[in-house]
Amino acid sequence: MSEAIANMLKEERRFAPPAGLAAHANVDAAAYEQAKADRLGFWATQARRLSWSKEPTETLDWSNPPFAKWFADGKLNAAYNCVDRHVEAGNGERVAIHFEGEPGDSRTLTYADLQKEVSRAANALLELGVKAGDRVAIYLPMIPETVVAMLACARVGAPHSVVFGGFSGDALAARIQDADARVVITADGGYRKGGASALKPAVDEALTKPGTEEVRNVLVVRRTGQEDISWTEGRDVWWHDVVDRQPDEHTPQSFDAEHPLFILYTSGTTGKPKGILHTTGGYLTQVAYTHHAVFDLKPESDVFWCTADVGWVTGHSYIVYGPLANGATEVLYEGTPDTPHKGRWWEIVEKYGVTLLYAAPTAIRASMKWGDDIPAKFDLSSLRVLGSVGEPINPEAWVWYRHHIGGNRTPVVDTWWQTETGGIMISPLPGVTETKPGSAQVAMPGISATVVDDEANEVPNGSGGYLVLTEPWPSMLRTVWGDDQRFIDTYWSRFEGRYFAGDGAKKDEDGDIWLLGRVDDVMLVSGHNISTTEVESALVSHPSVAEAAVVGATDPQTTQAICAFVILRGDAAEAEGLTEELRAHVAKQLGPIAKPKQILPVAELPKTRSGKIMRRLLRDVAEQRTLGDVSTLTDASVMDLIQAKLPGAASED
Ligand code: WT7
Repeated sequence: MSEAIANMLKEERRFAPPAGLAAHANVDAAAYEQAKADRLGFWATQARRLSWSKEPTETLDWSNPPFAKWFADGKLNAAYNCVDRHVEAGNGERVAIHFEGEPGDSRTLTYADLQKEVSRAANALLELGVKAGDRVAIYLPMIPETVVAMLACARVGAPHSVVFGGFSGDALAARIQDADARVVITADGGYRKGGASALKPAVDEALTKPGTEEVRNVLVVRRTGQEDISWTEGRDVWWHDVVDRQPDEHTPQSFDAEHPLFILYTSGTTGKPKGILHTTGGYLTQVAYTHHAVFDLKPESDVFWCTADVGWVTGHSYIVYGPLANGATEVLYEGTPDTPHKGRWWEIVEKYGVTLLYAAPTAIRASMKWGDDIPAKFDLSSLRVLGSVGEPINPEAWVWYRHHIGGNRTPVVDTWWQTETGGIMISPLPGVTETKPGSAQVAMPGISATVVDDEANEVPNGSGGYLVLTEPWPSMLRTVWGDDQRFIDTYWSRFEGRYFAGDGAKKDEDGDIWLLGRVDDVMLVSGHNISTTEVESALVSHPSVAEAAVVGATDPQTTQAICAFVILRGDAAEAEGLTEELRAHVAKQLGPIAKPKQILPVAELPKTRSGKIMRRLLRDVAEQRTLGDVSTLTDASVMDLIQAKLPGAASED
């Protein structure tokens, strides 16, 4: 992607940090200088934001790359840091979690409540025979017990493996097997899209599979109260039977900084899922620091809300460990943004006075599609920082977010990171950075990121290539669980001595970083590398388009031809001539080479359960092939709808 074409999309809009925020920001520009002058010293300082039972004297051990050790001689307990220390500091009455169930039930847990609940759950795990180092699988909806269960595991040193509640019994079984879990924590069900959806049957099914025999107990939270729940005596136990009768005091033991905290499987599109291993001290240091810096959290007055599911890394780092380590008050919401109505999120922002919101571009684009009038009905004036994560955010969606949700006051921070990086790596800082719609811009203080070409040479400003991380960071994955070689091969072999993230990126004229999507999503058209993200952003910048997904389909003349699938905005009809207008619009924005050959209006796009567009399936459609594996889709019927539209959608060339 070294040609000028990688730098086609022109974005001239700039937004300065609000003066009031900048004047009182947690982190100012000096942090970059300090970290640059002494990167390890900088991280050692951030580690001291935590409470250690033995303060580390070592910072980084990189004597055996790519296997890093951070703060290796330090000892701490992650749950103590997230809960007890806030109570000991006199903040026990501060709300930790405002829980909002999908049916409208709600619960408030203070830090003192959380301390009792986590202690009881930790005592219950010990009674069930869980020992430090044993793995515990967690398969739960978004309810307070999920956070409690994770912290209870951390408290007793049992690495958790949270499996997203939307995954099937097979997917759960594969993760239980790989991690060799001893206990599964689940619920009878959860509420989703207006109804109760069962979870326990998937656990029962998973535990019939070979390799899951080591699971001794299934601890079941009662959430939906289904009566016909199946029960295996001796194995299954109710949470309320076992946890509620425990003493609400538990003395946390401290663990080595490198003690495993959790395993989280990446739902990769190919191959066996990878168990990404995170350890305790470095992970907690970086998630706490980045949450403090990127969201400018003031724990006494802010209300933070990360809308992700706890089943993804975003939920681990920015619902559980980062915010709670910082003593934040946060919202936990069980359901979907459109249940029972499309203003549900904004209603929650108003109800709890949310000040800091962290959401995914897919949800922002859905809101754009539903119409500006919906958020306009709610009082969103409490908001002061808006975050984005999970995919590139198209400049139009970024501007819409700032305007219609943030009232044109709030900085938007586009945060780039991965399950593997554990915490935020590239992001503007709300009190420092002049933001640019669509760009994650700058590496965090203490993080070294750059863009390289095929030969690992750093590209000049104005060029594109591959995103790499050039120095180890505290919350980096330590390995792929049980497979060190795969860790080396996947991340450390493409560019000698550098971490290859798998994402295409470019540096603009100012040296700011723009993420261009997974490298597999870059198209080759008549000898030019064109990023799907840029064509999608150009399409979304047209007033009629709410969402777009672009793929390169094999083409005899041009190697690949650009095929676009678009969702039109609420009021935009599939007007005669609209696809031609859209093609012309892309050509005007990016140049004629990027003009899509085909544009197909569709009702929905195929998305993974974490909201990422599955371009691989769209490529199958565009090339008129049999569809590949659809099992990780949220809704596989979307593909039938798309295919049904095909015949009338021939190329307009
Ligand atoms: C991949 C990691 C980070 C937590 C949620 C996803 C993409 C993530 C951005 C962003 C452009 C982004 C990348 C990355 N991605 N954030 N701000 N801009 N792309 O975690 O499931 O491990 O996915 O998500 O492609 O590699 P994940």
